[in-house]
Amino acid sequence: MKFIATDIEDCPAKLDLNVVSQLEKPGIAMASYFYRSHLTYERELDRLFFKSWLYAGHSSQIPSEGDFFLYEIGEDSIIISRDAQGDIHALMNICRHRGARVCAESSGHKKFYVCPYHGWAFNLDGTLRAARHMKRKAGFNPHDYGLKRMRLIQYEGLIFINCDPEAPDFLP
Ligand code: FES
Repeated sequence: MKFIATDIEDCPAKLDLNVVSQLEKPGIAMASYFYRSHLTYERELDRLFFKSWLYAGHSSQIPSEGDFFLYEIGEDSIIISRDAQGDIHALMNICRHRGARVCAESSGHKKFYVCPYHGWAFNLDGTLRAARHMKRKAGFNPHDYGLKRMRLIQYEGLIFINCDPEAPDFLP
């Protein structure tokens, strides 16, 4: 079986009841409910994964300028991209125009990222390179429309990212 069926009757009250019940049984394996609860999954994402330093990959996966791979977390996709200076960036794979994914391949090599929806183009460091018809729009500043960046740190070649700007630093 590829997927575990979601508990379609899941609700906050049911989650709370299961938490209380589980806490009353120390040493007993976690109830099957938690494996099928979409609320548990959402809370794990919100409270744990989106606030923690996560291992995304190794720098050897993207040795050259333009190399990239995608890191998926929940419903989101993050581009791990090496730029012309050799720096590595973690960029939200969400176009700043209308929110389409700018990169569909799971890994590869690009000179820049072009959104398939209306053709906005982004540099390897996420800055906006070109946006059709936007030059005519009053007040449009390309610097405000780069791909959003996640925090990223390299440690002995290991790449860690963090979605939370307020999270403690990777190394104290
Ligand atoms: S959504 Fe990307 S260019 Fe419009």
